[in-house]
This record gives sequence, C-alpha cells and structure tokens, in this order.
Amino acid sequence: MRLVLVGPPGAGKGTQAEFIAAHLAVPKISTGDIFRANVSQGTPLGVEAKRYMDAGQLVPDEVTINMVRDRLAEPDASDGFLLDGFPRTVPQASALDKLLADLGTALDIVMELVVDDDEVIRRLSGRRTCRGCGKIWHVEFDPTSKPDICDRCGSELFQRDDDKAETIANRLVEYADKTAPLIDFYGAQGKLVGIDATGPVEDVTVRAIDALRSYGG
Ligand code: AP5
Repeated sequence: MRLVLVGPPGAGKGTQAEFIAAHLAVPKISTGDIFRANVSQGTPLGVEAKRYMDAGQLVPDEVTINMVRDRLAEPDASDGFLLDGFPRTVPQASALDKLLADLGTALDIVMELVVDDDEVIRRLSGRRTCRGCGKIWHVEFDPTSKPDICDRCGSELFQRDDDKAETIANRLVEYADKTAPLIDFYGAQGKLVGIDATGPVEDVTVRAIDALRSYGG
C-alpha cells in the first residue's frame, strides 16, 4: 500500500506512522527525519535545510522533491511506503503523482490526522525525542519512567529546536497557507480519509487501522 499521512505539526503523524507502517509492513519515510539526520551529520543538504527548519518554514520544493525521489528509488519502497510529512505543498503533491505515474503506480490513500491548534501547541511544547532510537515521547501524555531517559533504549531525550513557541506559531501559519490546500487536492482525487486524532494514542491507532482496512490495508 502507498500511503501519505497529512496533518498539522504535532498532529501525531510520527507517532502513528510507526504503528501504521508496522501494520502494513512498509517503510516509514519521514522528510522531517531525513532533514534532521542531514542536519546532525552537517551535510550540505542539512546546512541548507536548517535555515528553513529553525525559522519554522518549509524547505524549498525542489530540494525536498529531489530528496524524496531518491528515497523512493530505494528497493525497500518498491512495494509500498508510508510518507510522513511529504507532500506538504500542491507542487510537491503534483510531483509525487508524476513520479509514481512514471513508475506505473499511484497513491492508494491519504490519511488526514485532524486536531485543533490548542492541542497541537500542548503536544509540541511537551514533546521529547530519543537521541538513540528516535522514539517520540511527551512529558505529560506519554512520559518516560525516568526524566529525559528513553524507556526503550536508555538513551538521552532532547527537545527539538523547532518546538519553541515562536517557531511553532510559524509552522502553523505555513501549514494553513501551504499544506492545508492538499486536503482539497486529494479530496478531489477521492483519496482522502480524515481521522479524529484526539484522545489516547492507542485509540487514534485503532481508528487509523480500521480506516485502512476499508481500503484493503
Ligand atoms: P516534520 O518533522 O515533518 O514536522 P511536522 O510536520 O511539523 O510534524 P511534527 O514532527 O512536529 O509532528 P507530528 O505530527 O509528527 O507529531 P508527533 O507524532 O511527533 O518537519 C520539520 C521541518 O522539516 C518542517 O518545519 C520543514 O522545515 C521541514 N520539512 C519536513 N518535510 C518537509 C516538506 N515535505 N517540505 C518542506 N519542508 C519540510 O507528536 C507530537 C507530540 O504529541 C509528541 O510528544 C507525542 O508524544 C504527542 N502525541 C502524539 N499523539 C498524541 C495523542 N493522541 N495524545 C497526546 N499526545 C500525543
């Protein structure tokens, strides 16, 4: 299955992507994770992306599309994938459609995680991520047993640079301006399914997997 997860920053895309990708047995491809890995390795791509990420802005389409094209050409993505955080603009969505058409395939479903801005701010301001295994935690909603230590691998947790209040506000504006139009774009293709992403993580996962089953996933 070829699936896209869309939703505002902090909607829970990364959290749900892990469960959904495991359920579908497909690779999870997160453009945010790829950019962050490049930032921490100090690659030219990372240096360029960091300027935009720190400001809460989107990385330019051309850079992002080329990066995804390369990633989708890897063998593990040939039978399906879950895209988390891509596409994020209508030009990115059109480029993805073309890329898949050239490969003789197409997206199956675009799942929108629906939450309001107040919940987004609560989630992002308490988010912590593991430096070792990448597991996402939350100081209030999904705390570790010891502060700032990952229960899964024992590594240190960190707060993302773009989870500061001012950057979160910019990311929400970018979402409304550039990403929300994808809802109509995919609605018109008949590929959009909306999921209520409020409530406990496990409940959201059940809703997402139920929705996928009705599409054969
Ligand atoms: P990216 O990493 O994709 O960030 P984002 O879309 O802003 O999404 P987040 O990762 O912040 O949130 P999420 O929805 O994954 O939520 P999470 O599961 O962590 O992108 C970062 C930057 O990279 C962008 O700003 C941009 O600069 C650049 N970029 C990336 N892709 C790009 C593209 N395609 N084009 C251009 N630029 C791009 O959950 C959040 C918190 O809530 C966690 O603490 C979690 O534990 C908690 N939580 C999750 N679910 C629940 C729940 N049900 N109840 C309570 N708490 C919950």
